[in-house]
Amino acid sequence: MVYQHVLRRALFRSGGGDPEVAHERTVAAMSRLGRVRPLTAALRRFYGASTPRTVFGVRFPGPVGLAAGVDKNGVAVRGWPAFGFGFVEVGTVTWHAQPGNPRPRLYRLPASEAVINRMGFNNLGAAALAERLRRMGPAPVPVGISVGRSKVATDAVADYVSSVRALWPYADYFAVNVSSPNTPGLRGLQDRSALDSLLAALSPEAHGRPLLVKIAPDLSFEAIEDVLDVCHARGVAGVIATNTTLARDGLSPADAGMAAQDGGLSGRPLAGRSLAVVSFVAGRSELPVVGVGGIHTAEDAQRMFDAGAALVQLYTGFIYRGPALVRRINRLAAR
Ligand SMILES: Cc1cc2nc3c(=O)[nH]c(=O)nc-3n(C[C@H](O)[C@H](O)[C@H](O)COP(=O)(O)O)c2cc1C
Repeated sequence: MVYQHVLRRALFRSGGGDPEVAHERTVAAMSRLGRVRPLTAALRRFYGASTPRTVFGVRFPGPVGLAAGVDKNGVAVRGWPAFGFGFVEVGTVTWHAQPGNPRPRLYRLPASEAVINRMGFNNLGAAALAERLRRMGPAPVPVGISVGRSKVATDAVADYVSSVRALWPYADYFAVNVSSPNTPGLRGLQDRSALDSLLAALSPEAHGRPLLVKIAPDLSFEAIEDVLDVCHARGVAGVIATNTTLARDGLSPADAGMAAQDGGLSGRPLAGRSLAVVSFVAGRSELPVVGVGGIHTAEDAQRMFDAGAALVQLYTGFIYRGPALVRRINRLAAR
C-alpha cells in the first residue's frame, strides 16, 4: 500500500513522467542498495522467505525471480535479493553492445496495469556483462543470463554462441531468448529447424550450465509442441513462458489510445495467455517451467504454480505492486 500510494506515485512522476528514466533510477538505486550489505541482509529477512527448491539442478532460495529486461547489464545483482527475489535473470544481453530502438520506447498503461515496450535489447554487450559479473564475485542468489541476437548480426547462431562462450562461467543457467518481438526476425528462431540449429550450437558452449528456452505467448499450441520436441531432443533443461505479446486484448478503455504503440505488451492483460501456455507446456512435457506474465497478486502466482510452474518471475507486476508482491508470494509459497 505504501508503495502504491506513495513510492509508485513519486516514481511514475520522476523524470517528467518518462518511464525509462524512472526505470534507470530504480536500477541505479538497487545497485547502490546492493553495496550496503547489512541493509540488504535485513531487508531480505523481511521480504524473502526460506522456501528453497532445486530446479534443473540449481538450488534456488526462493521461487520468485526478477524477469529478464529489468537489469539488462547486471548492475544490481546484489540489490534485488533485498526485495525477496530468489534469483535474478540478467540481460537480455547481445554479443555486440547496442543502443536499442530510439526513445521513447517504453509506455505505461496504468488503468490496465500494463506496459508496452520496444526497447530492442539496449545493452552494453556480453563482454561487458562478463567483466562486471567477474568483478562482482559470487552472487547471493542464482543468476540466469538471458542471451539474444545482436541487431547487426549476420549469423544469429554465431552471435548467441559468442555470448554464451563469454558468459558461461558466471551463469547458473542461460535463458535463450527467441521470443522478444522487438528484434526483427528473432521470433523466427522458434521455428523447428532454426531452433534445432541454435540449440545444437549452444549446448556444448554452455559447459553444462542449464539452457532454458523462453517462448512467446503468441505461438500456437501446435508451434509450442514443435518447440518442446526440439527442446527434448537437444537436452534443454526448462522452458520460460512467456515473453511479451503482440496482442492487445484485455486493455482497459482508458488505455485504448496506447494500443497502437508498437512493441510487446506485458502485465495484467497477459495473465490469461501466459497461464494457458504454462499449463500447456507443463501438461505436455516433463521440463520444468518458469511462469512469467501478468503476475500481480500472490493468487496469480499460485495459479502459475497450480498450472505446473516450478518457479515464477515478475516484471510489470513489480512495477505496479512493488516489493510487497514478492513478499506475499514468498509467504504463500512457504505455507
Ligand atoms: C520494459 C521491458 C523490457 C523487457 N526486456 C526483456 C528482455 O530483454 N528479455 C526478455 O527475455 N524479456 C524481456 N521482457 C519480458 C519480461 O521478462 C516478461 O517476460 C514479460 O514482461 C511478461 O511478464 P510481466 O507481465 O510480469 O511483465 C521485457 C519486458 C518489459 C516490460
